[in-house]
Amino acid sequence: MRLIILGPPGSGKGVQSKRIGEHFGIVQISTGDSLRQAVADGAELGRQAKDYMDKGLLVPDDLMVQLVMDRLGQGDARAGFILDGFPRTISQAEMLNDLLQKEDKALDAVVELKVRDGVVVSRLSNRRLCSQCGADYNLVTKPPKTEGVCDRCQGRLIQREDDSEKTILHRLEVYHRQTEPLEAYYSGKGTLLTFDAERGVEDVSAAIVEALESGTGR
Ligand code: AP5
Repeated sequence: MRLIILGPPGSGKGVQSKRIGEHFGIVQISTGDSLRQAVADGAELGRQAKDYMDKGLLVPDDLMVQLVMDRLGQGDARAGFILDGFPRTISQAEMLNDLLQKEDKALDAVVELKVRDGVVVSRLSNRRLCSQCGADYNLVTKPPKTEGVCDRCQGRLIQREDDSEKTILHRLEVYHRQTEPLEAYYSGKGTLLTFDAERGVEDVSAAIVEALESGTGR
């Protein structure tokens, strides 16, 4: 199964793509995670991407296309994948289309998560992550037992550089301008499945799995 998950920042792409990937036994490929890893490793890609990411801007298409082509060429992506955070522009979508066509493959579905901007701001400005194990907390809906400390491994909780309110608003503006046009692009191809992602995590996953298993998405 080959899937894309699409949605604004904070819509739950990361959470849902991990769950769907596990359910269908396909690899989750997150361009945001790959970029953050490249920054942490001090890699050349990370050096080139960091400034864009910190400002809430999109990293240039040429860097992203190379990253995704390399990743999709790895063995674990042959059996299927769910792409989280790619494509984010029409030109990235066209590149992916060309790549899949060359290999005589097609997307099974594009899963779109719908969340209002106000919900995004609340989710992301209250998000904290463990610096050691990556566990995810929310100061309002899922606070740690001890402030600033991970319940699981006692690691220090940190805020993502791009989760300040100002940068969240900028990321949303970039999403509406550069990524939202993909909704019409994939709708025109008949592959778009849209879900209300303001419901609880499990309800959203169940709705996606049901739609994919019932063949609503080819
Ligand atoms: P990326 O890491 O992809 O960030 P993003 O799209 O801004 O999304 P987030 O990771 O913040 O949110 P998400 O939708 O994955 O939600 P999550 O599951 O984490 O990209 C970062 C940057 O990298 C970009 O700004 C750009 O600079 C660059 N980049 C990446 N890909 C690129 C590309 N293709 N082209 C160019 N540049 C690129 O959930 C968010 C929070 O909400 C969590 O705390 C979670 O627990 C909570 N939550 C999730 N679902 C629910 C729910 N149903 N109810 C309540 N809480 C929920």
